[in-house]
Amino acid sequence: MKLRQVQQYWDRQAHADPMWAILTDPAKAGRRWDADEFFATGIREIGAVMELAAEWGKPVARRSALDFGSGIGRLSQALADHFDQVHGVDISQKMIELARQYNRKGARVEYRCNVVTNLGAFETGSIDMIYSSITLQHVQPRYAARYVEEFLRVLAPGGLLLFQYPSKPIGLGARLARWKAFLSRPRPMYMNGMDREDVIALLERGGVRILNVQQDEQAIPGYHSFCYAVTRD
Ligand SMILES: C[S@@+](CC[C@H](N)C(=O)[O-])C[C@H]1O[C@@H](n2cnc3c(N)ncnc32)[C@H](O)[C@@H]1O
Repeated sequence: MKLRQVQQYWDRQAHADPMWAILTDPAKAGRRWDADEFFATGIREIGAVMELAAEWGKPVARRSALDFGSGIGRLSQALADHFDQVHGVDISQKMIELARQYNRKGARVEYRCNVVTNLGAFETGSIDMIYSSITLQHVQPRYAARYVEEFLRVLAPGGLLLFQYPSKPIGLGARLARWKAFLSRPRPMYMNGMDREDVIALLERGGVRILNVQQDEQAIPGYHSFCYAVTRD
């Protein structure tokens, strides 16, 4: 899928039911997410992440954070409680519009629509913490690898990069389900992944230090999901 098609897909999701497109709790389909409850999930997620970050002693500075695949700002808003400046980046213009409407942190959070495979708007070594959750799993590996290279470029010395990315589909059942999903209309939310060893090799080529690779519960059945934590010494 070309990036413009990816954008159209997420714009449609954002028009139809943005909170449910982000957190697909079946009980919340049909615009049944309460906004406060929805954003509270982001505060809890980032709170847990910052506790882990403190254990690693990273990032060493808290000037800036980048939330890649920010959606309507569930995590960007929470990151603003910990960082001076937060940049939310998303491929969907509609998600970005909604994120701006839900922004309660003023100029400390800025949202940017990005429909290319680079993060050219950000200088090399400029961001203290980069966070990406339940986003790369929707990104084809050829693009995801490029984004990860860009995360490594943009990461400041002493910074912390944390991102979630599933494995390739496990077993024949998951592969068949993937084809079925690809052929059906309307097309359901598509999933992607890359072998953990390939992700680790990509990080090692980038000259960063891997702090942790932790399996988590984020992926749908048929995939293993991992959270990668990386620093630049
Ligand atoms: C499931 S939502 C997660 C949003 C947010 N990370 C959260 O947890 O609240 C996935 C988001 O990734 C965005 N996205 C998908 N492909 C992207 C890409 N190539 N670049 C930037 N954002 C992308 C979508 O527009 C959508 O807002």
